[in-house]
Amino acid sequence: MSTTNWGDTREVTAPADFHVHLRDGALSRLVTPHVHKGGFYLAYVMPNLVPPITTTRMAMEYQKKLRENSGSTKVEFLMTLYLSDDLYPSDVKNWKAAGIIGVKSYPRGVTTNSDQGIESYDKYDELFKEMEAHSIVLNLHGEIPSDHSKNTCVLNAEERFLPVLADLAEKYPKLRIVLEHATTEAAVKAVMACGDNVACTITAHHLTLTVDDWAGQSFHFCKPVAKFPSDRLALQEAIKSGNKKFFLGSDSAPHPSLSKSTATPTSGCAAGVYTSPILLPLVAHLLDSFGAIDRLADFTSNFGRAFYQIPLASHAPKVVVQKVQGVTVQAEYSSEEKAVVPFWASRSIDWQIVNVEE
Ligand code: NCD
Ligand code: ZN
Repeated sequence: MSTTNWGDTREVTAPADFHVHLRDGALSRLVTPHVHKGGFYLAYVMPNLVPPITTTRMAMEYQKKLRENSGSTKVEFLMTLYLSDDLYPSDVKNWKAAGIIGVKSYPRGVTTNSDQGIESYDKYDELFKEMEAHSIVLNLHGEIPSDHSKNTCVLNAEERFLPVLADLAEKYPKLRIVLEHATTEAAVKAVMACGDNVACTITAHHLTLTVDDWAGQSFHFCKPVAKFPSDRLALQEAIKSGNKKFFLGSDSAPHPSLSKSTATPTSGCAAGVYTSPILLPLVAHLLDSFGAIDRLADFTSNFGRAFYQIPLASHAPKVVVQKVQGVTVQAEYSSEEKAVVPFWASRSIDWQIVNVEE
């Protein structure tokens, strides 16, 4: 299915990852430089720390730390707040000036650090109207909590969330909404059916994983879980079609190796797949594998920037990737304090970054 030859190159101007977890403390010091290592110049940063980021002051302090940890002055960190009762509609008008771009909603209990997530969107009506008026984006983790009395579990949690997306999009037609890390054909169709105010991020790992890959393989376990081969195909086709609503948000979500690899009879492993350090080569490899390499720049920079209204600076850096015969992904990245296992560890990627014009 590949449409390229060894030595072929593609260029992306200022690659942008519109969904990434950069953690705090020692783990943040280890993983934040990997945004740039993976070829990226923009990181849209998730707020699910403990405690979650709920004020502009917390977001600004966090952004400052990320800049210190980054190792590159070139990476732009865009900040988000965690949707909760701690956000006040009267504050929204001040967010833009403080650099807040969006608000992330986590349904309660569906993923890592979502204990303080929300149970109903209705009570945020006033907040959403203010966000709509002040051009703040709403980022949705699109799953409903498992409820076995209703036959809801991880396999249909996303599909059953989609009516909520449609309702929000209709009720707030000027509110820009992103359905994060879509994993299903149903989600792709739902996003296409919404107006231009709705877009959708797709991760690298959901372009290749299915249920078979995470059942029994904890390093491939993330939320939402990868679904059926037909769902994976729908994600690939959405990118291949060049629909501007679909762009990269890696959902790169590092957890210490031990939290991923050890489960006990009373607790499972942490949810999250870690792609930051290999992101651009991995995305190129995957797009190439299903005949979509010519969409690389649109998927990893242009479409996301257009939706978020973050134009490229005139001197924006260009990153060139080249098709090569297999680069092996490191088995682990570690510091004195932490170790993380990347996605695709010890496997081979056929694209690598060859040139960065700073
Ligand atoms: C994320 C994390 O670890 O913070 N985990 C995940 O499986 N994706 C949280 C999230 O985005 O759901
Ligand atoms: Zn995430």
